Amino acid sequence: MSSINYSEKIPNNVNLADDRALQRALEQWQPNFLSWWGDMGPEGSHGYDVYLRTAVSVDAGGWAHFDHVKMPDYRWGIFLTPGEADRKIHFGAHKGEAAWQDVPGEHRANLRRIIVTQGDTEPASVEQQRHLGLTAPSMYDMRNLFQVNVEEGRHLWAMVYLLHRYFGRDGREEAEALLERRSGDDDNPRILGAFNERTPDWLSFYMFTYFTDRDGKFQLSALAESGFDPLARTTKFMLTEEAHHMFVGESGVSRVVQRTAQVMNELKTDDPKRLREAGVIDLDTVQRYLNFHYSVTIDLFGADHSSNAATFYSSGLKGRYEESKRDDDHQLEGQTYRLLDVKDGKLVEREVPMLNAMNEVLRDDYIKDSVAGVNRWNKVLEKAGIDFRLTVPHKAFNRAIGTFAGVRVAPDGRIIGEAEWAANEAKWLPTPEDRAYVASLMGRVVEPGKFANWIAPPAMGINRQPVDFEYVRFN
Ligand SMILES: [Fe+2]
Ligand SMILES: [Fe+2]
Repeated sequence: MSSINYSEKIPNNVNLADDRALQRALEQWQPNFLSWWGDMGPEGSHGYDVYLRTAVSVDAGGWAHFDHVKMPDYRWGIFLTPGEADRKIHFGAHKGEAAWQDVPGEHRANLRRIIVTQGDTEPASVEQQRHLGLTAPSMYDMRNLFQVNVEEGRHLWAMVYLLHRYFGRDGREEAEALLERRSGDDDNPRILGAFNERTPDWLSFYMFTYFTDRDGKFQLSALAESGFDPLARTTKFMLTEEAHHMFVGESGVSRVVQRTAQVMNELKTDDPKRLREAGVIDLDTVQRYLNFHYSVTIDLFGADHSSNAATFYSSGLKGRYEESKRDDDHQLEGQTYRLLDVKDGKLVEREVPMLNAMNEVLRDDYIKDSVAGVNRWNKVLEKAGIDFRLTVPHKAFNRAIGTFAGVRVAPDGRIIGEAEWAANEAKWLPTPEDRAYVASLMGRVVEPGKFANWIAPPAMGINRQPVDFEYVRFN
């Protein structure tokens, strides 16, 4: 069950060979995927041999194989965490019933929508990041970028498998549409806002993988609880890969901060202008990037008050983060949750039925998890003897979805007027000058063991290889 036959066209642990029709459908989709990868995957990289991790089994002990591979030859496979015998639905109205091995007719439309929305984010991020290989600050970082990219490609495969296997003709049409939408396209954009933003530079990339891949972690964790067993098992395995994506973000920002702190100490200054002259990213700019990525990402959880979210939970389609570790009735009828609302120009708390607040419940769990990493970045500053501290802005800041859309809120949570917003926006969010400055630092560094001036080397290499290992062979 757990070992993957790599001689198959589509490596898998789902006995694809036993289902000819499904195998044929996926084999027809595969060249379209490869042609999408050719057009929208990492620019100019197709001939490189990259030291990549490939999923080769679902064993917790050793599921990955590392070797140099050309990315178009990467084996994008379909892996599900092994099923639990007699698994039961453990939340919502169907709690205690056997988990579904097939799509229940009544939940078909909602499940399809959930899978398509998740699936759409995967190729979107590859598209957003496709130019970054040209300006990698090191070979090590370039390899990490490509690792994230190929695995987002595999996550697309994971969702397409579910669509093909369980949703018949509409599933196949959705799978095609996933290759047709384009991040940022005016006519046919990706489904969710944050996935249509550009990821123009490496500071954005680290912020994205820290904050936005973490949104992925929380969405996948909620789906890993699903009563639809194939979805639960698929997303569980995706989470295994996702951890590395967040590591790339967390360690990336940490190394930026570390390098800036070092130069601050050398020059004995915190003046952004002098730091920029020295070619590092001043901490105010790091904070503005953080504010942007954090606020755009928490919008991804959806409206704070949502009847769809209630339906998804009650129907057993999407649980809470760590649903099974919670000690309540897992049905939540009659329970309430405190939401923030705007009243008379102030933020006030309001109690609502918890089922309608499921997006907010997940967002609040996400926020707790995000803050932990920001504190680790602050430890780097503390250790360097720098007083500056990075913070996450108030959750009402710069929101475009839900109650706070259209409300001007300062990072400290005060509701403010247009004038105060206009006077401070350049302090709170990246300005065109900030972006131009960061862009000016981007230049490719490709000698093994060398790093761009604005970022510190990592503490160690990938898969116990040295930091100066040849992670990418350009041929
Ligand atoms: Fe993903
Ligand atoms: Fe990811």
